[in-house]
Amino acid sequence: MTAEAGLPDTLRDLPGWAPDAVELADLELLLAGVYRPLTGFLGSFDAAMVIAGGRLADGTPWPVPVTLAVPKELTAHERIVLQDPEGVPLAVLEVAEAWQDPTSQGWRLAGPLEALRSPAHGPFHSLRRRPDELDPVDGPVLAVAAREPLHRKQLGQIRQVAEQLGAQVLVLPLLSGEHDESLVRALLGVRKELPDGTRIIPVPLPPRGDHDRDLLLRAHVAAAYGATHLLAEQEAEGTAIPVVVPEPWAYDADVEIWRPVARIEPDHVQAELTAERLGELLDAGEPVPDWFTPPAVAAELARARPPKHSRGVTVFFTGLSGSGKSTVARGLADALVERGGRTVTLLDGDVVRRMLSAGLTFSKADRDLNIRRIGFVAAEITRHGGVAICAPIAPYAATRAEVRRMVAAAGDFILVHVSTPLEECERRDRKGLYAKARAGLIPEFTGISDPYEVPDDADLALDTSAMTPDEAVGRVLELLVAGGWLRTE
Ligand code: ADX
Repeated sequence: MTAEAGLPDTLRDLPGWAPDAVELADLELLLAGVYRPLTGFLGSFDAAMVIAGGRLADGTPWPVPVTLAVPKELTAHERIVLQDPEGVPLAVLEVAEAWQDPTSQGWRLAGPLEALRSPAHGPFHSLRRRPDELDPVDGPVLAVAAREPLHRKQLGQIRQVAEQLGAQVLVLPLLSGEHDESLVRALLGVRKELPDGTRIIPVPLPPRGDHDRDLLLRAHVAAAYGATHLLAEQEAEGTAIPVVVPEPWAYDADVEIWRPVARIEPDHVQAELTAERLGELLDAGEPVPDWFTPPAVAAELARARPPKHSRGVTVFFTGLSGSGKSTVARGLADALVERGGRTVTLLDGDVVRRMLSAGLTFSKADRDLNIRRIGFVAAEITRHGGVAICAPIAPYAATRAEVRRMVAAAGDFILVHVSTPLEECERRDRKGLYAKARAGLIPEFTGISDPYEVPDDADLALDTSAMTPDEAVGRVLELLVAGGWLRTE
């Protein structure tokens, strides 16, 4: 964990640490002055006060705890180098306090930061600006801090509010680490629907759990970028700048125009496209209507959420050794290849153990690492629109849930529990491993001397003692067809 070469000599021997995605975003905003008055990660007192009452220890309003988690080993150092995930040094942290989070017991470091270079990762980096790089604007500035694309309704509302305020518009695409390029492209694509002079500046600001605090933070960030007003869907107290809630708009289907509901004739038909219906259209690969959103946005929506029959999907089999996972997974892979139209990668448990995870043992830590590696590869396959079929034992629910999260960020995830009972697996004992495990020759053997946590979130359970392998494969294919991932033959 020593910091990279290429640093000044005085820093070369300092320990290095790569913060997680949210912390890196915080780091970037701290260094850019967006989080002023904050100049570094919070200490225990400030963090506790912020969580309890939304204020720093000195009484300054501050909505969210901006903290840095580190492993315990790093708490012994006075200075550490913070790096991006590729190991590029970004800043030196002068450790003022090492403290333990009272809830998680995890270690945190607090203290001022010295910038080494501005973070240079992420799509559309060239559009990013520090607040001090912006030309000052005379008069009101209406910020739109957007986590989602803007459709015709929001575009109309923004134009209306901007006109009422006589304000310039500042769109801040809030980057979360997922589909950011799609969001930015969708917002750039509607620039001509926004008032002249509208600026678009992406800001790394992943959502925080609490909705109200998130809104307070968005207002703070908007204010730092010179906004005087923030457009938001709800009122909030104590925001850094006033929040403006637009009046409700709807589509007047009789005259084919979006307008404030108050201005729609009572006998006219009002149309809306719910988020659910929009999702259904995208899933089915049907066009998103032009009255709802401009074509540039529709194209981005379809790219971010492709039709299910071409969207990446991971089918993750879990079950005891000898349960039939490999057989069913192999049968499924063959069936998909035979049908055509999909690229398929099979990540079988034993094969992965020989390749990706050679050298790992069956300790809990190594099993988790093995499953995480499978999850990482499956998520990449899924991101590229392929079908990943995984078939490890994956005995621990928490690790399976982690894989589900990794994959779900890239596409769809289906969990299949091969629920063949232990007695049947042991009776089959094709590899003779159960006999050895019973004889005490294999320690920590799943089902015998190591746990298997039965999933409660499986999309399908297959007991291969009650069906043939072909039937089992057929059940998975049915699920894939019913869910839209495969076209009916
Ligand atoms: S996992 O727990 O990390 O998911 P994985 O699927 O990769 O396990 O490997 C399981 C295969 O390794 C089993 O099918 C079996 O052939 C073999 N194996 C060897 N030792 C063990 C053990 N202690 N527990 C379970 N499987 C083992």
